[in-house]
Amino acid sequence: MTDFTPQPEDNVYDSNSSGNSEFKDLFNKNITRRDLISKSAGAAVALTLAATLTGCNDENNSSVNEGSPSVPAPEHSKAPSSLQFKTVDKNTLNAFTVPEGYQARVLYALGDPLTEGLAEWDDNNIPSGSSFALRSGDNHDGMSFFGMNKAKGNYDGSVSDEGLLVLNHEYINQAELHPSNNSIKAAIRAEDEVIREVNCHGVSILHVLKDPITQEVKINKSSLFNRRITAASKIEFSGPVKGHALLQTKLSPEGLFTLGTHNNCGNGYTPWGTYLTTEENFDGYLARNSNDDRDLQVEYALTRYKIKKGQSAQYKWNTPQASLLPQEMYQRWNSSITAATAAEDFRHSANSFGWIVEIDPFDNRQLPVKRTALGRFAHEDCRASRAMAGQALAFYMGDDSTGEYIYKYVSDAKWEVKDINGGYTAGDKYLNSGTLYVAKFDFDERSQQASGEWLELNIRDPRIAGYAAYQFADQADVLVHSRLAADALGATKMDRPEWCAVNPNNGEVYVTLTNNSNRGKAYPTDAANPRHYFDNDSGSTSLKGNINGHIIRLREQNEQTSATEFVWDIFLFGAEADALKNVNLSGLSDANDFSSPDGMWFDPRGVLWIQTDDGAYTDETNCMMLAALPGQTGDGQIAAAFSGSGTQTTPSGAILDDSKLRRFLTGPSGCEITGVTMTPDYKAIFVNVQHPGGIWPSNHPAALNSSKGIGTRPRSATVVITRINGKEIAAEALEQANSAKT
Ligand code: FEO
Ligand code: CA
Ligand code: CA
Repeated sequence: MTDFTPQPEDNVYDSNSSGNSEFKDLFNKNITRRDLISKSAGAAVALTLAATLTGCNDENNSSVNEGSPSVPAPEHSKAPSSLQFKTVDKNTLNAFTVPEGYQARVLYALGDPLTEGLAEWDDNNIPSGSSFALRSGDNHDGMSFFGMNKAKGNYDGSVSDEGLLVLNHEYINQAELHPSNNSIKAAIRAEDEVIREVNCHGVSILHVLKDPITQEVKINKSSLFNRRITAASKIEFSGPVKGHALLQTKLSPEGLFTLGTHNNCGNGYTPWGTYLTTEENFDGYLARNSNDDRDLQVEYALTRYKIKKGQSAQYKWNTPQASLLPQEMYQRWNSSITAATAAEDFRHSANSFGWIVEIDPFDNRQLPVKRTALGRFAHEDCRASRAMAGQALAFYMGDDSTGEYIYKYVSDAKWEVKDINGGYTAGDKYLNSGTLYVAKFDFDERSQQASGEWLELNIRDPRIAGYAAYQFADQADVLVHSRLAADALGATKMDRPEWCAVNPNNGEVYVTLTNNSNRGKAYPTDAANPRHYFDNDSGSTSLKGNINGHIIRLREQNEQTSATEFVWDIFLFGAEADALKNVNLSGLSDANDFSSPDGMWFDPRGVLWIQTDDGAYTDETNCMMLAALPGQTGDGQIAAAFSGSGTQTTPSGAILDDSKLRRFLTGPSGCEITGVTMTPDYKAIFVNVQHPGGIWPSNHPAALNSSKGIGTRPRSATVVITRINGKEIAAEALEQANSAKT
């Protein structure tokens, strides 16, 4: 029997939104333990703190698969020469707008059940907190589609009509999540609400089916592949920090595992077919007592990670009086010394977050894994290099906070195609042993050459070993405190590094730098972060730093993933079309102007999708997604950017007209557009609408709304876009070229 064959008890859960009886029912259904783990790992673990889940290995299938999303199949690698879909105009509607000839279907919104038999979301009858272990979480974010080999129930990157859609739920919109009479403002939170909030974080895995004729995508709600991983799910540590003293907690005195992943923002996928989720702003979830006195250096490190003495936790998850779950489930959100040793309290809770987590969506028996070799910071995204036989794999990562860094991890192991479908075993091979680097960008004013270095975060480097602000105990400590090690090396402080993308045609790496109100003030401009200007529309003359963000790109020396040197330029500068010329350095027009680039992904043809999370241009337009056909690093000119009272020299990419860069969609008012993935046939593209305003998606056309939620609360949702004629997304130019030939 394959894992996706429904079992009799799968359809029997009923949702009764009054309290938690539903959750208890779930445990009284005489379900085997493995079934339970398979179907609701988060919930199961939440209730069985002391459980030892002895994972049983799925057979490792090492069949060769040429269709990995990182390795475009030859027949699918042809990019259109220009963009010909009709540009979507800027607007501030409470609607999701796509080009003429396209349609957008709401697939999966906050609270939607993952299985048959659970009630639909209802504004006036909010489902119990525990039931969210089997429902959509909130604030949909990074997302990847994995085609499925139907016979084997494993990964096949060439399959489009059946697959697993895996997506993050970054955080919560508290006001939209609970019954109106709630404990959001109370000093002590209601336990059911905290369970709901915990379960609304993490990751969803959805088994989706696409009709090959109509291209309509649906969720197969009777599939056992559907599951949630939440901020309560048991997750193992792996790699150099596993078992280290810095990971000891009362839950795992040996430092071998933790509970939960949260603030899952950007994402990535591996060439062997697993999902990578990221842990971004974990700091705000943790409280520290006002008397939590620490050694000076430990305090420095905690402060560098924004976990300050005396801070309260954003959602006060540390406060409920436990009756449903053990009290430790709440105590762990307070990262203070409360006992004699670290093995008896949660002083190291903070160290259990801020990692890259690997999830094999096809393996619902083994636990997800935190890959400690990739460092600990506010992980925004994790994008694999091209997978080339005989070369190491590189993973590019942003640390999204003002003035933070861009990182790269390079595997010791060289890529072997036989590892496709190798699951966590392949993850152990590539993600546990390697080198972590941080980027330093240089620009020689005289020669006008842009170059860069990858600086290794290694305890043997005297700048790290002898760092005055923090004495690292060992290499594991360097990984736990990557930011401090990067400080010691003098890495370049960037304008909030967000998503990374790798061009499948030449391996170049793109990183969004979303904005930085402090550029030009706390952070002087430099060639890689050159702009410090004001919004000339607003009538304000106060300088506001880098208001609209930019996208930097780099090419590794000799196109080697393991290179320690690179060249770079700035691919695009976000700007309003009518901004000053030395602000709108990319010559954006009304067809393609944007602000605050964030999500970003190259599809395997080489079309770059750029998404925005903006607060600066929203008086004129909602957040959006654009398509681009980029050239290459160094294809532009040296520019003089507006920098306070002067200018800053910077290498700017080629100007793209609207045949190479144009707006593909706008989201409903109030939202961020984030997360993008496609089926391998390019006929369905998925994006997420995060924290919409107004009443969206209840005002979305009913015929295109698969979410049956009741009410008018705005809800984050996954949207799937197809062409009405069923053809490939953004491939109009190829069709015109083909019809001209015939
Ligand atoms: Fe979660 Fe940096 O956006
Ligand atoms: Ca403006
Ligand atoms: Ca983001």
